Amino acid sequence: ASRSFSQLSSQSQRPSFGIAFDIDGVVLLGNTPIGGSNKALKRLYQHSGDLRIPYIFLTNGGGFRESKRATELSKLLGVNILPCQVVQGHSPFKQLFNRFENEFIVAVGKGEPAAVMADYGFKNVLSIDEYASYFDGIDPLAQYKKWNIKHAASENRTFKEMAPTICSQRVQAAFIVSDSVDWSRDIQVLCDILRTGGLPGRETGHQPHLYFANDDLKYQATFPSERLGMGAFRIALESIFNRIHPNPLEYTSFGKPNPLVFQNAELALKQLVLSLCPNAHVVNHATSESHHFRTLYMIGDNPSVDIKGARQAGRPWFSILTRTGVFKGKENSSEFPADLVVDTVEEAVEYILRKES
Ligand code: G3P
Ligand code: MG
Repeated sequence: ASRSFSQLSSQSQRPSFGIAFDIDGVVLLGNTPIGGSNKALKRLYQHSGDLRIPYIFLTNGGGFRESKRATELSKLLGVNILPCQVVQGHSPFKQLFNRFENEFIVAVGKGEPAAVMADYGFKNVLSIDEYASYFDGIDPLAQYKKWNIKHAASENRTFKEMAPTICSQRVQAAFIVSDSVDWSRDIQVLCDILRTGGLPGRETGHQPHLYFANDDLKYQATFPSERLGMGAFRIALESIFNRIHPNPLEYTSFGKPNPLVFQNAELALKQLVLSLCPNAHVVNHATSESHHFRTLYMIGDNPSVDIKGARQAGRPWFSILTRTGVFKGKENSSEFPADLVVDTVEEAVEYILRKES
């Protein structure tokens, strides 16, 4: 890479701190930058546009490939963000690629969930939109849904020829990549998949695997009070499934506050340092293991997600809570107190740069 940490790093010294920014409620509300985030991020670059301070975005959100999200964030925030600086709720799904590479899987959520999974290497994936369109009558409410555009391909011959194959192919796993757009259809179809062993409309069978990108009960968007997140969808699905099925729902949730996410974030920051260091050619993967950050700052708005996660992860994490999102209190959060509480992300960056100078 031509870009480098030209000031902070030298032969002997690589950056000793890094920053992880939460997105919703810290950097953006919907698609609008908040809390002076544009200004704050610009301070992490040289005048030349080279990165000066290693940072990543660590969001529980998602729905688009990391490369696409990086382009979108670059436009919104006015700095050049690399795909490797975007860690989303669903990013850990790529670690399951070996297990499901050729298995038939279904991807759920807003945006382009199937494209996300295909980008991670999964070869046999359909979005739940497309999958459901192969089953006549699977959603009896579809006709009342004004937004429900018939699947573009549903009238063509290939689609009709494909339907029997798709409907008889066993779904091995369902991945909730991003927030469900149509809870009623998705809960119905997921219950069908999960209670039948992956063959909707058939007899019961062993529950296929189920993965959620995060377990956020709520998050901050443009509306004044918090919105229901993927954790709320999980509760709805789980409550219904457990009423209609003898065995309780089995699932795995990723996203913050899962400790794995903070380990991955540390790794992503180390790799960023190595890929952009001017002396990267003299370091190898062994030294990537040995590169230690003295401090990693997590700037978040949700005490039970961002702050709890950073606290659980322990050193070198240092948690900073902003008041621009889920947390709106005057003092600190009583349940998951942060190491520092500030009004905005701009103040948080100001504090970090002062402390590290
Ligand atoms: O749907 C997104 C939400 O659950 C949280 O996003 O950026 O605050 O981690 P973020
Ligand atoms: Mg947030």
